[in-house]
Amino acid sequence: MAIKRSSPNQKSADTVKKNQKTQSKSHQTTPKSEKPLNHNSSGESRLVSAANNPEETENQEARIRPQTLTEYIGQKELKKILNIAIAAAKDRQESLDHLLLYGPPGLGKTTMSLILASEMGVDCKITAAPALERPRDITGLLIGLKPGDILFIDEIHRLNRMTEELLYPAMEDYRLDITIGKGQAAKTRSISLPKFTLIGATTKVGSLTSPLRDRFGLIQRLRFYEIDELTIIVKRTADIFKTVVTEDGATEIARRSRGTPRIANRLFRRVRDYAQVEKATAINLELAATALEIFDVDERGLDWTDRLVLSTMIEQFQGGPVGLEAIAAATGEDSKTIEEVYEPYLLQIGYLNRTHRGRIATEAAYKHLGYQKTLF
Ligand code: ADE
Repeated sequence: MAIKRSSPNQKSADTVKKNQKTQSKSHQTTPKSEKPLNHNSSGESRLVSAANNPEETENQEARIRPQTLTEYIGQKELKKILNIAIAAAKDRQESLDHLLLYGPPGLGKTTMSLILASEMGVDCKITAAPALERPRDITGLLIGLKPGDILFIDEIHRLNRMTEELLYPAMEDYRLDITIGKGQAAKTRSISLPKFTLIGATTKVGSLTSPLRDRFGLIQRLRFYEIDELTIIVKRTADIFKTVVTEDGATEIARRSRGTPRIANRLFRRVRDYAQVEKATAINLELAATALEIFDVDERGLDWTDRLVLSTMIEQFQGGPVGLEAIAAATGEDSKTIEEVYEPYLLQIGYLNRTHRGRIATEAAYKHLGYQKTLF
């Protein structure tokens, strides 16, 4: 099998031009210094990264966060289940069952927890497993809870064993077993805790131990958002920022947001900056597309490195199957970063397949990048 670069037979001249631009940028393994400015090797500061960006302050996030389940767009099935859980818990005057939310980053696990707390009329304490290093970190949080409160633990699959074991009786019997002293003189004391709700969030539900997983009454997945849902989110955010956006402008941002509200809102902010500099009165399709091309986010939300990974597979490995380490060596990217940061979305949109013999670039990837697969 060989690859012939074709003139991409795509919808519009505009698309062809964009693809040609893609080609020239992504063909060689360009030295790191030539990479776009918004790139780093962990992929975290990428415009299209779903990870939380430390530059996006809590204030900014809080401003656009929906406050109620009604305001929350998308995740219909999850909302239905949570509405039932809320109504039942309120009726019985009990706390909500412990809830495990899993799914890719940026889909609104923290937002959902804050909404649940506000719907139940309780406080929500937010923490993340890496911050719970010592036993006293988790005991301090548990002791401070009031009846019904929610404790939200992000990245719960990363809890250490001691912290996790303290959580078992806390979740099951609202009891904290603490050990005082060391060695033979050590004594265990039990402290009773108010009935609280633990919400665990994870991107890796398979990495949870079964004793921890089994202690959640509800285990729910968040799924990627549809374009029409993201369009509504962009329009809602535009409203909050008092920015005029047309329907097709919002859809254009949504299309490039990788199914992820956090990315949609970030792209919206960049497009809004561009509109301001250009003194545009509204964000329409053309303006959104031009701005996002400048920021190197293509029609499917791929950036420079996504395209580098795919074009390297196609050009140097005939589209695969090729091992992860070989892709990493050829692109100069870290293999873990490729696997955890770039690959999930490429897999999700069907541009890449994983087989036991290695990764394969699909027909769709060839087409998107303007390559033609030929057999001889
Ligand atoms: N902003 C981020 N996620 C959202 C959602 N699911 N609904 C409404 N606004 C949001």
